Amino acid sequence: SAAQRAGGMEKREEAGIEAGVAAMAQCYQPFDPAAYLQYNYTPPRADFSRLDSIVPWKLGCLHRAFTAGDICGGTLVDVGSGPTLYQVLSGCEVFEKLVLTDFLPQNRAALRRWLGDDPGSFDWSPYLRHVCQLEGRSPEAWREKAARLRSVVTDVLPIDVHRPAPLLPGALPGPADCLVSSFCLEAVSPDRPAFTQALRHVSTLLRPGGHLVMIGALEESYYLGGPGVRIPVVPVDQAFVTASLEECGYTVLEFCTYVLPADMCVGVDDVVGIFFLKARKKKVAL
Ligand SMILES: C[S@@+](CC[C@H](N)C(=O)[O-])C[C@H]1O[C@@H](n2cnc3c(N)ncnc32)[C@H](O)[C@@H]1O
Repeated sequence: SAAQRAGGMEKREEAGIEAGVAAMAQCYQPFDPAAYLQYNYTPPRADFSRLDSIVPWKLGCLHRAFTAGDICGGTLVDVGSGPTLYQVLSGCEVFEKLVLTDFLPQNRAALRRWLGDDPGSFDWSPYLRHVCQLEGRSPEAWREKAARLRSVVTDVLPIDVHRPAPLLPGALPGPADCLVSSFCLEAVSPDRPAFTQALRHVSTLLRPGGHLVMIGALEESYYLGGPGVRIPVVPVDQAFVTASLEECGYTVLEFCTYVLPADMCVGVDDVVGIFFLKARKKKVAL
C-alpha cells in the first residue's frame, strides 16, 4: 500500500541519516580545539578594530538579541559550544543558569580550563572587553563579566544532536528557557534531512514559548577542524533554514545575514556568509 511504501521510504531515509551521522562522528575525532580557535577566533576574523570583521558582527547580533528584553529567564543552554564562549557573553547577563554542551571531550576540557582560570586557556578578554563596551560599560569591566560568566555556568555536558534525547537523562532539571547554537547543526549533519531532524531533537530541550538564537554558516561545504582535518558541512541557505524551523514548530522573529569580505576568506573553510536568527518555539504542539 501507499502507507507501507511511505513507511519504507522513511526507514530508508533514517538508515541513510544514520550511516552519514556515524561518518560525521568519525570526522570529528581528530578535531583540534587550539587550531580551530586560531583559525576562527583571532584576526582577521576577530579584529575588533574593524566593524566588518566576522566576530564583531556576531557579537553585535547577540548583544541586540539579549538586550531587546524579550529573552531572559532561568536556564540558557548552548548547543554544541565547541571550545568557544563568545556566543554566551551577552546571554550570561540575563539568565540565572547557563549550561554549555559539546560532543567532544577535548572541547569540553577546553571550556573547563577557561572556567577554571587555567593560565593556558584561550584568552577571551578582547571579546569580554568588546561586549562590555556594547553594554555601555568600560572595557575594564571585563573581569567582572568574566566572573559573572564563570558564576552562571552550572555544567559542561556531553551532547549528541543526532539522538532523539540529545542530553543524558536527567541532565537538565527542566526544559530550557532559551537555546543558543552557533555553527553546529550544519557542521555536524551529513545532509539537509539530518539537519532538520537534529533541530527537532534539540527543540525537545526547549520549553514551549522559549527562544532559539542561532548563528550558522551559509553555503559552506567544509571547514578545517585542525591541520588536515577536513570536516564536511551541509550547505544551507535562508530558505532552507527558515523552512526547517517552521517544520520544527518555530516562529522566526528575525533573520539577518552577513556576506564575508574577501579578506576574511583565509583558506580554513569555503563559507560564503553567516546567518543570525531569533525564533520562538510555538506554544501549541504541532
Ligand atoms: C563548527 S564547531 C562550532 C563550535 C562553536 N559553537 C562555534 O561557534 O565556533 C561544531 C561543533 O559541533 C560539535 N559536534 C560534533 N558532532 C556533534 C553532535 N553529534 N552533536 C552535537 N555537537 C556536535 C563539535 O565538537 C564542534 O564543537
